[in-house]
Amino acid sequence: MSRGTATDLVYLLAIIGFILALKALSSPRHARRGNLLGAAGMVIAVAWTFSEPSVYSHTRNLVLIVVAMVIGTAIGMPAARFVKMTAMPQMVACFNGVGGGAAALVSITEFIALSHKSIALYKVGEVLFGVVVGSVSLSGSAVAFAKLQELMTGRPVTYPGQQAVNAAIAVGIVGLVAAVVATASTPLLAVVLGLSLVLGVVFVLPVGGADTPVLISLLNSFTGLAVAASGFTLNSDLLIVAGTLVGASGMLLTRMMSAAMGRSLPNILFSAFGSVITAGTGPDAEGRTVRSGTPEDIAVLLAYARKVAIVPGYGLAVAQGQHAARELADALSGRGVEVYYAIHPVAGRMPGHMNVLLAEANVPYDQLEEMDQANLEMPTTDVALVVGANDTVNPAANNTPGSPIYGMPIVHADEAHNIVFLKRSMRPGFAGIDNELLYDPKTTMLFGDAKDSLTKLVAAVNAA
Ligand code: TAP
Repeated sequence: MSRGTATDLVYLLAIIGFILALKALSSPRHARRGNLLGAAGMVIAVAWTFSEPSVYSHTRNLVLIVVAMVIGTAIGMPAARFVKMTAMPQMVACFNGVGGGAAALVSITEFIALSHKSIALYKVGEVLFGVVVGSVSLSGSAVAFAKLQELMTGRPVTYPGQQAVNAAIAVGIVGLVAAVVATASTPLLAVVLGLSLVLGVVFVLPVGGADTPVLISLLNSFTGLAVAASGFTLNSDLLIVAGTLVGASGMLLTRMMSAAMGRSLPNILFSAFGSVITAGTGPDAEGRTVRSGTPEDIAVLLAYARKVAIVPGYGLAVAQGQHAARELADALSGRGVEVYYAIHPVAGRMPGHMNVLLAEANVPYDQLEEMDQANLEMPTTDVALVVGANDTVNPAANNTPGSPIYGMPIVHADEAHNIVFLKRSMRPGFAGIDNELLYDPKTTMLFGDAKDSLTKLVAAVNAA
C-alpha cells in the first residue's frame, strides 16, 4: 500500500472518530465517551502526521512544532481541568479564538508562499477566506472572553450608526479581498488582516453578555469554516472534513440556542438585548404582595408532597448549589416523595449547563426531564422548587406580547399546585424583566443564596 493510500485510510479513521464523537456528545449519558472518541481521532491524526518523513526534513520546524505543542498542552490541560462550570463559555471562547487565529496564520503563510507563483484565482480566494474568517473569529472571541470574564462591561456597547459602520467595514473587506485576488499584494493582505480583526471586535461589541454564549457558538462555527478553508489550501481532506464538522455543528447549535430562547439570530446579534435592565419592581410597586417563608415552612410543604419538581437556573450554577440540590432530592426521595428536575434548554448561560452541573453532583439521569416532558407532569406536581431560575419560568413569555421574552418556551412552573422560589432578592434575571410568578398567591419566596437555602432545607426536611 502506498503512503498516500495509508494516509487516506488513517485520516478516514480519525474522521470516523470525530463523527462518532459528535453523535455521542448529543446526550449527557454518552458525552464522556464522545469526548474520548474525539480525542482518540485527534491522537491518530497527530501521530500519523508525525510519522510523515517530511516533518523531519527541517529540524527548526520540528523544534517549533514540538515547543508549540508543549506550550499548548501546559496551558490547555490545567485550564480545562480546573475551570469552573460557570466559566466554561469563556474557556470555549479562548480555545475557539486560538483555533481561528491558527487557521488564519496557516492561510497567511500559504498566501506568502503562493504569491510568488502564478496560481489559480480560486486558490487565492480560498486563502483569503481563511484569513478573514479566522481573524474575525480570533478577535471576536477575545472580546467575548473579556465580556464573560468581566474584564469589560457585559452590557451591549452601542453607538449611533453602529450597524452601518460595521456593514461598511465588511463591504470594505470584500472590496480589498477582490483587490488582493487581482494583485496578489502582501501589503494589501496585511490591510485585510487588520480590518478583519477590527470587524471581529465591532461585531461582538453590541451583543449583551448573557447572549455571548450564542455568539461564541457562531464564532466556533466560523473557526470551523476557516479550518476547512485551510484544508482546501493545504489539500488536506482531514482538515476539510474536521472544519466542516465544526462549522456545521456550531451553526446547528447556534440555531438551537436561538430557538430555545425564542429569538432570531439577527435579534441576538444586532438588537443589543440586555442593555436596559429594568430593576425589579419590588414587592410594593404595583400594590402586589410577596409571600416569603422560612426553611421550616417550606420543608413541611416539600416533605408532605407527593411529587416535587426542582427547576434549576443560572443562580444554582452561580451558587454552586448542585450538590445541596441533590442532597435535598435524596432526603425527599427517602421520604417517598417523587422528585424530578425540570431542565429548560437555555437555563443557565450555556448549552447543556444544567445537565452538566447536575451530572457533576451525580444526579441520576432518570430524574432529569427535558422541558416538554416536565411540562406534561407539571399540573400533577405538588411543588415546583425554582432554584436560581427566573426567565425560564416567566409566564410573560406566554401571555405578554411585546415582552422581550415573548415566544420563548418556558417550564410551566406556574401550573404546579405550589411554587417556591429560592433567590436572593426580587431582582430580575438576564432578560431584565419583572416576573409576575414571584407575586402569585401560590408562590412562596425563600430569600438567600441558593446553596445556603438548599442546605437549610435539607436540614429542615430531615427534621420534619
Ligand atoms: P435568569 O433568568 O438569568 O435568572 C437567574 C436568577 O438567579 C436571577 O433572578 C437571580 O436572582 C438568581 N440568582 C443569581 N445568583 C444567585 C445565587 N447565588 N443564589 C440564588 N439565586 C441567585 O436564569 P435562567 O432562568 O436560568 O434563564 C437563563 C437566561 O439566560 C435566559 O434568559 C436565557 O435566554 C439566557 N441565556 C441562556 C443561554 C444558555 S445556552 N443557557 C445562552 C444565552 C442566554 P437574585 O439576583 O435575586 O438572586
